[in-house]
Amino acid sequence: MTVTVTGATGFVGRRLVEALRQDGHTVVALSRRTNVSFGPNVAVVYWEPVAGLPPDESMHRVDAVVHLAGEPVAQRWTPEVKRRIRDSRVLGTRHLVRAIAAARRPPATLLCASAVGYYGFRGDEILTEQSAPGQGFLPEVCVAWEQAAHEATAAGLRVVNLRIGVVLGEGGGALEKMLPAFRAGVGGRLGSGRQWMSWIHADDVVGLIRYALTQPLRGPVNAVSPVPVTNSEFTRELASVLRRPAIFPAPGFAVRALFGEMSQMVLGSQRVLPAAAESAGYPFLYRELGPALRDIFRS
Ligand SMILES: NC(=O)c1ccc[n+]([C@@H]2O[C@H](COP(=O)([O-])OP(=O)(O)OC[C@H]3O[C@@H](n4cnc5c(N)ncnc54)[C@H](OP(=O)(O)O)[C@@H]3O)[C@@H](O)[C@H]2O)c1
Repeated sequence: MTVTVTGATGFVGRRLVEALRQDGHTVVALSRRTNVSFGPNVAVVYWEPVAGLPPDESMHRVDAVVHLAGEPVAQRWTPEVKRRIRDSRVLGTRHLVRAIAAARRPPATLLCASAVGYYGFRGDEILTEQSAPGQGFLPEVCVAWEQAAHEATAAGLRVVNLRIGVVLGEGGGALEKMLPAFRAGVGGRLGSGRQWMSWIHADDVVGLIRYALTQPLRGPVNAVSPVPVTNSEFTRELASVLRRPAIFPAPGFAVRALFGEMSQMVLGSQRVLPAAAESAGYPFLYRELGPALRDIFRS
């Protein structure tokens, strides 16, 4: 199969490209960078998502598109950053879908990233794909992003919106940001520690994307492990795997002072279950946090 991947240079994308290559697929990587290379069977094509449509060659005779590109969310949300977070996803997806619809032989499938941010912050409420969106900046971005991807159904595509949770893996993502404090022995729970965190091992995000390329999943699919944890549980487990103490809780006001509005992402509670993936029979590699972290740190 030939798969076009946007955001191929990112934390998830580079793992996905390698896995697709190993599966024997051909990959077209769309990137704003021209100086990247991925090895055999991967062509790199320049695309700036907010500027316009990707070139025809990246859509023609392609079987599926996996759209992961977007401005990083884990940074201080100034008005300019918020605009980039929204535009790179919503405008970028609109441009991508227009190019797909215009292709002489369009792909059959579009797998588009979204995020559990869709649900907003809802305490202990169990959230599945059936739950309504939340309110605020991230839910608004996710709703518009998913809607932009959904437009591809008019061109006959099967569209999957992957509502991705906190991706845990080596060399990037949320763990990389937490590790310095934990390794220095000054890690600890954030805020009350009672907030739920819906995590997923990076291998399972890639696994679920590969599964969704061939299985008849469509619409929203939560890409989270079946066993979310509270921030206190996460903190205990990470400290234990790293064999470090985690006795320095960071009070909510300090986290808010440090990260501003973005602090919602670590202080807010999201208890999300992968109902669609489980009912479609996706075999999770890591259901529980302990084995996932032990795999990542090989301990
Ligand atoms: N990682 C997580 O925990 C997590 C959680 C929930 C949702 N997601 C979503 O899943 C997708 C992939 O996540 P990731 O962690 O792999 O993301 P990432 O490492 O931040 O990479 C995404 C890619 O997007 C491109 N990009 C960055 N800024 C951009 C901008 N302003 N405009 C257009 N393109 C831009 C970059 O590719 P080029 O430089 O090659 O163009 C980058 O490699 C993202 O959309 C993210 O929001 C991730």
